[in-house]
Amino acid sequence: MAWRRLRLPGGSVAIPSRADQPGGELDQELRLLMRALDRQPEAPLLEVAAWDAGLAVAADAAGWPDDGMLIPLNLGASESCRAGAGAWTVLPLDDLLPAEASFAVVRAPHWLGRAGAEWVVRAAARALPTGGLLALLGDRARGIESLRRRLSPIVGPIIDRAVGEHRRLYLFEKQVDDPPPQQFAWTSTLRIAGREVTLRQHPTLFSPARVDPATALLAENLPQRDGRWLDLGCGSGALTVAAARQDRTLTAVDWSYAAVETTGRTLKANGLEADVRLADGAPTGEQPFDVILCYPPFHVGSRVDHGPAARLIQAARSCLAPDGELRVVLTSAQSPRDLLQPNFREITPVASAHGAQVFSCRQPATNRGRRR
Ligand SMILES: C[S@@+](CC[C@H](N)C(=O)[O-])C[C@H]1O[C@@H](n2cnc3c(N)ncnc32)[C@H](O)[C@@H]1O
Repeated sequence: MAWRRLRLPGGSVAIPSRADQPGGELDQELRLLMRALDRQPEAPLLEVAAWDAGLAVAADAAGWPDDGMLIPLNLGASESCRAGAGAWTVLPLDDLLPAEASFAVVRAPHWLGRAGAEWVVRAAARALPTGGLLALLGDRARGIESLRRRLSPIVGPIIDRAVGEHRRLYLFEKQVDDPPPQQFAWTSTLRIAGREVTLRQHPTLFSPARVDPATALLAENLPQRDGRWLDLGCGSGALTVAAARQDRTLTAVDWSYAAVETTGRTLKANGLEADVRLADGAPTGEQPFDVILCYPPFHVGSRVDHGPAARLIQAARSCLAPDGELRVVLTSAQSPRDLLQPNFREITPVASAHGAQVFSCRQPATNRGRRR
C-alpha cells in the first residue's frame, strides 16, 4: 500500500492506496469539494466508485460526521478503501439500500466514458431519498459539463455550484424517484470466432459497447486442447463464451463486481456454464489450469501503466500447469519482452492484426529460474 499526501483547506492528510488504483487522479475534485461546501453535509455520506478512502480521510480531517459508506467497483479499490476508511463502511453496490444515504459524492471517473460515469451517478442517486443531495465533481476538459447537462432529468435540479481550477462542482437535489432507464446497449448479438454470441454489456467495463479487436483476435486464435481453462480478467465474458466446448471446464475471474455479474449473464444468455468468480489475480485454492486466456489491462484510470498487466501475467504463471499454456493478446503499447519473458521460457507469436499480437506462452519459469 502506498501513501500519498493531499493538501486540503484545513491542512494535509495522508491517503493509503494501491498503486493500481486511480484515486489520486481525482484529488483536485476532492479539494474542491472540501473547500466549496459551506456547511457540513448531512450523514450518512456516500461515495460511489470510490477508488480509495480519500473522501473518508478528508471528511474525518474536516470534522464531518463519521457515518459514511464507500462503494468500490473492484477488489483492488475495495482494499484501498478499507485501508483508510476508519469508521466508514466499505461495501459492494449490491449491498447498498435505496435511500440509505443523505449526501452522495461522485467524482466523475471520466476514463469510464460517458455511459460509465452516468451509471455511477445513477447508482449514487438511487441511494438518496427525495430531497437528498448529490455532489457531482469533474474536470472541465474531460466532459463534466456534458455529463451534468444530462443529469437533471435523471436526478433533479442543480441547486448550487462551485468553480475550481479546471474543476466544477454541481450540487443536485434528488427530486426524480423513477428516472427513465439509461440508454445503453446492455445486450448485443454478434459473431465471435465464427460463433453467434449474445453478449451482455456493462457501462463500467472495458470496451463496453463492442468487442475490442484484440479480444476478437484472441478469440479467433484459441488453442485446440481440452482440459481446465481459465479466462483471467473476463470483463463481459466474450472470451469465456468463445472458449466454451464440452470437453473443457471453464473458470472465469475478474476483480470487477460488474464483470463477474456480466460474464454470468453472458453465459446464461448463451446456455453455457462456467465457474465465475471475483478474484484479484489468480483464483485461490484451485488446481492448476491447462489453458489460461488473458487480455491484460494497460491503464490505471486514464494513465498508461503496465504494472497491473505484469501482475496479471505473473498470476497466470502461478496457476498454470507445468505443461499448460497461457494464450495472451497484447496491444502495441504492451511489451512482450517486459511482460512475458520474465515469466515463460517458451514464447511463440501466433497471430497479429490491428496492432495487437497473440502469443502462446509455455513452460512457466520457476521463481529461481525466472529470466530477467
Ligand atoms: C483489457 S480488459 C479485457 C476484458 C475481457 N477479457 C475482454 O477481452 O473484453 C482487462 C480485464 O482485466 C480485469 N483485471 C484487471 N486487473 C485485474 C486483477 N488484478 N484481477 C482480476 N481482474 C483484473 C479488468 O477488470 C478487465 O475486465
